Amino acid sequence: MTDIDSIRGKYIVDIAAANDEATLEEVRLAALGKKGEISLIMRALGAMDPQERQTEGARLNLLKDEIDAALRARKAGLADAALDARLKDEWLDVTLPARPLRRGSIHPVSQVMEELTAIFADMGFSVAEGPQVETDWYNFDALNIPPEHPARQEHDTFFMNRAEGDDRPPHVLRTHTSPVQIRAMVDQGAPIRVIAPGRVYRMDMDQTHTPMFHQVEGLAIGRDISMANLKWVLEEFCRAFFEVEEVELRFRASHFPFTEPSAEVDIRYSNVGGQLKIGQGDKWMEILGSGMVHPKVLAAAGVDPTEFQGFAFGMGIDRLAMLKYGIPDLRAFFESDLRWLRHYGFAPLDIPDLAGGLSL
Ligand code: PHE
Repeated sequence: MTDIDSIRGKYIVDIAAANDEATLEEVRLAALGKKGEISLIMRALGAMDPQERQTEGARLNLLKDEIDAALRARKAGLADAALDARLKDEWLDVTLPARPLRRGSIHPVSQVMEELTAIFADMGFSVAEGPQVETDWYNFDALNIPPEHPARQEHDTFFMNRAEGDDRPPHVLRTHTSPVQIRAMVDQGAPIRVIAPGRVYRMDMDQTHTPMFHQVEGLAIGRDISMANLKWVLEEFCRAFFEVEEVELRFRASHFPFTEPSAEVDIRYSNVGGQLKIGQGDKWMEILGSGMVHPKVLAAAGVDPTEFQGFAFGMGIDRLAMLKYGIPDLRAFFESDLRWLRHYGFAPLDIPDLAGGLSL
């Protein structure tokens, strides 16, 4: 009779001692594999007489089941241990707060453009656009500034290069947003009411000038639009933009080739200890140029000056932003210093509108 107990004892010890799945598999093959010890003994059952085969077969089957169960239990144990070890190794604290993502901010110039677009939209103005690289016709000629006109020199113009042998007048970086007046009238005809905010370029650089800056052009053409309408629109705009009840504007006679008569407009303000206040005080700051659109400009844009008239103005956006938000140095606007942007920038969801208040 086979010594079941000693075979069982031997394999139980081996199974318990196997510390990884490969070793355990070797034990399985040694016991239950095709040429394993127990399999070989079972194969010998055939040679026994029926009586003996029956008792011996039952005992061996039991042994085989026991070893098989022990192997499975050990295998599950090893897998659990491996999982435990891996979990310990790859431990992850899902309750930790997420790493902060820095949110960008809206540049004060963009914010002010949104604000003034909202204000002028409320007065019936839509937004027009034009290219920053302009022909000299749109930038000068059509605005009643012919080639020899001294105003061309005053504009500190950036000229584009022409290929050798090409003697057409060069394109320019637009020196003001006024060429958009022409483009808008050519496109839409009259009557028309548009503003045109955008970048302009002049060769100039000091604390209050940068070679690129921003203007917003205004244009209103109709059959009976007068200087009085210009005055009202500008006063309404300043009241809404600076969010003060009382604003005082001063219209000073001036000269622009594209308006007649022309006026420069100053706004009353005070500066107490570096704090600017709009609407009160004894100081005046120039904020824009304006006037009644010159008949020659209307004609150049295909609008009949015997039927239509109206006003135009051009305002510096950067200066508006400096005044409203107390920003002292214009050059910092365009240095892309993140500390400056975080300080003076606006939250992305502060979308200005008249109903919600302009600066949230
Ligand atoms: N284009 C002028 C400038 O840049 C401003 C202006 C616009 C004046 C419209 C009158 C009318 O200085």
